[in-house]
Amino acid sequence: ETPVESPSSWGCEHLIDRILIPADVLQRRIAELGAQISRDYAGKDLVLVCVLKGGVMFLTDLMRHITVPHEIDFMAITSYGIGARQSTGVVRILMDLQTNIEGRHVLIVEDIVDSGRTLDHILRLLWTRNPATLRVCALLDKRARREIQVPLDYVGFEIPNVFVFGYGLDLDEKFRNIPFIAVLKADALEE
Ligand code: XMP
Ligand code: MG
Repeated sequence: ETPVESPSSWGCEHLIDRILIPADVLQRRIAELGAQISRDYAGKDLVLVCVLKGGVMFLTDLMRHITVPHEIDFMAITSYGIGARQSTGVVRILMDLQTNIEGRHVLIVEDIVDSGRTLDHILRLLWTRNPATLRVCALLDKRARREIQVPLDYVGFEIPNVFVFGYGLDLDEKFRNIPFIAVLKADALEE
């Protein structure tokens, strides 16, 4: 039987250049982030806001390590004029929060920050709703690509300027389920 750590278990071995972050490394870092968030938000009224769809795997693993009682909520957004593999930052809300965040401590849970445009838009929008605090926890920071400075309060991993998928991040909507982060093969980009 092929182990789940192996790309060939998931039918994506032909798309992978290399595994950038193995599953065990991801999980260890997420546990650390959860512990840190638990300390920082002790006694506070915390709401985790997950940005769909990419943030889903990260949210569900992260919250298992957040010992502070908290709520979760979801937002779905889309960027115009994509380039499916990068955002324009012209963002439209497809699904808004159900929670009233006024006066509450809000932590945005994001899969990846690239240009920073998407996150900048979300931060501006949520600040208008008067949360007590509004911070960001991003699993991946592709810092070399930043065009707009956005404050990242918690970062899992800084990554180089390569296209990655897995662990919430999709390749044409697939492979969000794989337990590691992989680098897409250069020749797979043109397909
Ligand atoms: P911005 O540029 O607004 O982009 O910070 C954030 C969004 O861009 C997508 N993105 C990626 N998606 N692999 C992906 O699967 C990547 O390497 C990557 N880089 C950026 C993603 O949708 C993210 O929310
Ligand atoms: Mg995508």
